Amino acid sequence: MYNSKIAGLGYYVPENVVTNEDLSKVMETSDSWIQERTGIKERRHVAKNEGDTTTSMGVKAAKIAIERAGIDANDIDFIVFATLSPDYYFPGPGVLVQRDLGIGTVGALDVRNQCSGFVYGVSVADQYVKSGMYQNVLVIGSEVHSRGLDMSTRGRGVSVIFGDGAGAAVVSRETDSSKGILSTHLHSEGQHAEELSVIAPGMGKRWVTDILADNDPNDESYFPYMNGQFVFKNAVVRFSEVIMEGLQTNGLGPTDIDMLIPHQANLRISQFVQKKFGLSDDQVFNNIMSYGNTTAASIPIALTEAWEQGKIKEGDLVVLAAFGSGFTWGSAIIRW
Ligand code: UT7
Repeated sequence: MYNSKIAGLGYYVPENVVTNEDLSKVMETSDSWIQERTGIKERRHVAKNEGDTTTSMGVKAAKIAIERAGIDANDIDFIVFATLSPDYYFPGPGVLVQRDLGIGTVGALDVRNQCSGFVYGVSVADQYVKSGMYQNVLVIGSEVHSRGLDMSTRGRGVSVIFGDGAGAAVVSRETDSSKGILSTHLHSEGQHAEELSVIAPGMGKRWVTDILADNDPNDESYFPYMNGQFVFKNAVVRFSEVIMEGLQTNGLGPTDIDMLIPHQANLRISQFVQKKFGLSDDQVFNNIMSYGNTTAASIPIALTEAWEQGKIKEGDLVVLAAFGSGFTWGSAIIRW
């Protein structure tokens, strides 16, 4: 039995900055409303004339993570790609990463767990590395939200929140049993599946031929729907539960946390969790102000930035926690 660790991290965000002020020119909203409710000041959107996709951004983040892990792309044994905004309906971006990295015919798995996608991906990687099956697993979280948002006043409750970006981690074999990913914890509650969802273009209710024939510009089922207050109330409970579950599994408590990296859903949610666990500003990393909610990419972007800024040091207890559509939620407890 081996241990597993995060050996390399990277992120990439599109250059195009969209401020709250920019959004208030295309929909009825304001900088003060957005900042007060979410903490977001700006986010990145792929520019209209820019070629970036969920896959291409994921590949850019992955190349940095691979280099920092001190390995070659050909040393990757398996790819896990988490996104809710794939380039194609199918195949998923995992195989496109295998192609674009120009590596051998390694397995590629696509994860569909929205905001929890990266934590689910890390959990999968952790099991493969610990079992000895693989030595280096590439985990990517990447999203292009902007091409799928309703940028009119009708969609403002959702559209002001989400941003584009990608993050990646290389999960590698570690022989020191006191270091690395100590445990991961995953949950779901499908009873609330539709409370945060994009219903189309699923095959659940409609035939593609009918959709094409309707060609209805007012069809809202292609845009994300979120029951904001309901999601918020569930998020604060589940974040807290799953962090506590992870700590208790390892005989630890909130005072042992050196750095909490919460999924960047809403600054108010992070602040609630921070207060609940009695953590200082230095113990919780937030960057939602600059990038909005980038769903599966938010944790690896935040983790990379925290690491780049020297806020994560060897021996630190790092906690990743996520909650989102599904509902799904999860945590990872890591001794860095
Ligand atoms: O990452 C996955 C997990 N996601 C989350 O955890 C998100 C959880 N939910 C939230 O963060 C919050 O519910 C939101 C930030 C999405 C919304 O905040 P809220 O305080 O729950 O606002 P609300 O939806 O109850 O809307 C309050 C008012 C409404 O107007 P009325 O009916 O009171 O007149 C909305 O129409 O604010 C209005 N509103 C806006 N006004 C200006 C909604 N969106 C906007 C907007 N700008 N962008």
